[in-house]
Amino acid sequence: MKREQQTITRTPIPLLDLKAEYDPLRAEILSRLARVLDSGWFYLGQETQGLEAEWAAYCGTRYAVGLGSGTEAVWLALLAAGIGAGDEVITVSHTFIATVAAIHFAGARPVFVDIDPATYNLDVSQVEAAITCRTRAILPVHLYGQPADVQPLRELADRYRLWVIEDACQAHGAEYHGQRTGGLGHIGAFSFVFTKNLKAYGDAGAITTNDPVVDRKVRALRDHGRAGKYEHPTFGLNCRLDEVQAAVVRLKLAYLEAWTQARRQHAARLNEGLAGLAWLTRPGEAPDVRHVYHQYVVRTPYRDALADHLKARGISTGIHYPIPCHLQGACAHLGYGPGSLPETERAARQVLSLPVYPELTDAQLETIIQAVRRFAPPTTDDE
Ligand SMILES: Cc1ncc(COP(=O)(O)O)c(C=O)c1O
Repeated sequence: MKREQQTITRTPIPLLDLKAEYDPLRAEILSRLARVLDSGWFYLGQETQGLEAEWAAYCGTRYAVGLGSGTEAVWLALLAAGIGAGDEVITVSHTFIATVAAIHFAGARPVFVDIDPATYNLDVSQVEAAITCRTRAILPVHLYGQPADVQPLRELADRYRLWVIEDACQAHGAEYHGQRTGGLGHIGAFSFVFTKNLKAYGDAGAITTNDPVVDRKVRALRDHGRAGKYEHPTFGLNCRLDEVQAAVVRLKLAYLEAWTQARRQHAARLNEGLAGLAWLTRPGEAPDVRHVYHQYVVRTPYRDALADHLKARGISTGIHYPIPCHLQGACAHLGYGPGSLPETERAARQVLSLPVYPELTDAQLETIIQAVRRFAPPTTDDE
């Protein structure tokens, strides 16, 4: 007890500490930024090309295409797959709304499948029943940094001639049966927004693929359908990655493995420290996957009380996500309602993300563990 008191910290612990990442890299980052500013070239230049080559190599894919955001990555992946009006895309409701918005803006209809409560990812046993003659793609989300169970999805995709598009926006470097996300389906979509495991200083994203046609289509779609400066054989958009963000992401890619290791060690420490609490479920790691703990998510029927208890002790937490997509106003026209996706809705009521960022110190981890352990759940069950 005495030792615990000595090792805990009393300064507030944020859910994510951007400054702790920035401080040791400051000089390197500023010099990279200066290089871009000095070059006078601000999009689709050397930094973007370099990042595309390095990100494809990291993910184990033939191609990567830099984009302005993860939302654009999911959206352009769907467009490049030729998905549009009248088509259905099977996905989850327990995700950030951008997954679903991208399907909507491709012109297709999202069809939701419930989640597996052990992983919070798409319950693959429910997918086949959701396939109709209009289904064109399955879009699993590797939520919180844990890959979805992709192998059965690939088998269904082969059988029904569907696309598998991975929303890997939270799962940089996560692995499934030894293979990295981004190369597990036909197209992978990544976000490098400044809160992800690999962070720009603003917005950025990319798709990955082994398909040369997809690569070519996304390159055209992101840059006004260009073939030459003023030649546009097809329509495109402006979804380019800019050179400043590409330079930042490229620099940080060199640190990603170390950061991932730190996240995994912190998760292991939290798992150990939070063992044996009957009212709390710790995150599970599926067999033969590498979870990269974009979020470390516990669940409890007393979620809001636990969050308040931690807040009062200076520990910030998050809820990813409190309202499932199918219950958002934006999805009202799809016809789902409360009770449609029971596991998704239960997760939305119970999940709580604890700090797990790489720069957390042992003392901070100890503080989180002790604070959670001191929480006294109410005696009456509210679930
Ligand atoms: C699962 C998921 N999909 C899509 C996105 C969209 O990415 P972005 O914010 O870069 O547009 C995010 C993150 O914000 C996400 O977490």
